[in-house]
Order: sequence, then structure tokens, then C-alpha cells
Amino acid sequence: MFIVLLFVVSDKRKVSFILFKLYLNLIMPNIAIISSSVRVDRNSHRVALYFKKYLESNKLATVEMLDLKIYDFPVFEERLRLQPNPSASLLAFAEKIKSADGLIIVTPEYNGGYPASLKNVIDVLYEEWHRKPIAISTVSDGVFGGSQVITSLQFSLWKMRAWTVPAMFPVPKVREGFNEDGEPMDKAATDKRAANFINELLWCVEAKGKMI
Ligand SMILES: Cc1cc2nc3c(=O)[nH]c(=O)nc-3n(C[C@H](O)[C@H](O)[C@H](O)COP(=O)(O)O)c2cc1C
Repeated sequence: MFIVLLFVVSDKRKVSFILFKLYLNLIMPNIAIISSSVRVDRNSHRVALYFKKYLESNKLATVEMLDLKIYDFPVFEERLRLQPNPSASLLAFAEKIKSADGLIIVTPEYNGGYPASLKNVIDVLYEEWHRKPIAISTVSDGVFGGSQVITSLQFSLWKMRAWTVPAMFPVPKVREGFNEDGEPMDKAATDKRAANFINELLWCVEAKGKMI
């Protein structure tokens, strides 16, 4: 696979980039971030952007942003493994979940639950979720930081045999906390909170690596 890539890609800069990415993947865990909101003018995506920057700037992980608004999956009809002709984007999404060492799910709270876009992708996959370390960040524009979502989402992920990490990152008043580029208004305080949350996820990723 690797040698084929080198032949296909003749541009030297591209080869260097691919080699660099492969090197990073060898020395750092690969964390995928699911940004769940597909809403027009969404705000929780700010938090997903923040985690991406936090992980990359602190050189803690390579990061794959799985933005459900960009994937724009159709409403669930059947699980991937039972679909006769799954779409290329669904297959690619499934592969990214499967190959990630750990996941961060950023979800808004809608009427006390998590959005249909997220349930859509939970249900369409199966073994991809098994034993996957997952940290959950809940978001709202109210004062409670979407914390009512946590139990229902944890329960769904537990049913899928994922490993939800015992750490929380609730974000109240999201528009006051982060700008559109995912920059936190109070960087020192947000980074301190993120460190605890991310450390818990990375500990679980490392612990899992020692088990298998
Ligand atoms: C349909 C809907 C239901 C909502 N329900 C709640 C709720 O139950 N509790 C809450 O704190 N905020 C609620 N909100 C506010 C959202 O948490 C807030 O808009 C947040 O920014 C949503 O994330 P998003 O902008 O990425 O979609 C609701 C928003 C929408 C659109």
C-alpha cells in the first residue's frame, strides 16, 4: 500500500507530506472528532474546532475531523453491514471510526437529548464502535452546558459496546466561550479544563493499547 502510494504520487512535496503523516501516526494516537450538529448557523462546531487545535498544537495526537454537516448522510434506513450498495462516503466514515484510536464526540443538547444526526451514525455502524474509547463534550447556549444529554448518549454508546471515558466537558453559553474559529475567550481556563478531559481520553487509549 505504502509503496503503491509512492509510485502514484510523483510530486516530491506530496511524498514528503505523506511520509510525515505516516511518521506522526506512528508516534501519536489518532483521535477522530465527531462534530454532530448539522444545524444552520450551528455553534457547537466551535468546540470541535477548539479540540482539534488543542490536540494538534500540543502535539498530543493526529486529528481527523468528522463533520456530520459535511457528510450529510441520509436518514438511517439500514445498518452498513446489511446495505447492498453502501455509499463511498459512508464506507470512508466507517473506516475512519474503525481506525481511530479514540474519539471525541461534540454534541449539542436538543430538547434534553442528542441530535438525530448523531443517532443516525451511531445506528448505521456496529462493530466500528466496539471497545472504542470515546470522550463526550456537550454544548448548549444555556447555563447547563447540555449536561442532560450525557446519560442518554452514554447509554446508546454502551449498547454499542463502546468505552465512554469518565470525563466530561460541558460547554454552557457556547457563543460567549468560543469564537467561530474555535478560539476560546478565556484560553488559560479552557485549556486547563481541556487538559483534564483529554488526558482521561488519552489514558484510556494508552491503556487499551497495552491490553491488545
Ligand atoms: C431544537 C433545539 C432544541 C434545543 N433544546 C435545548 C435544551 O433542551 N437545552 C438546552 O440547554 N439548549 C437547547 N437548545 C439550545 C442549543 O443547545 C444551542 O442552540 C446550541 O448552540 C445547539 O448547538 P448547535 O448550535 O451546534 O446546533 C436547543 C436548540 C435547538 C435548535
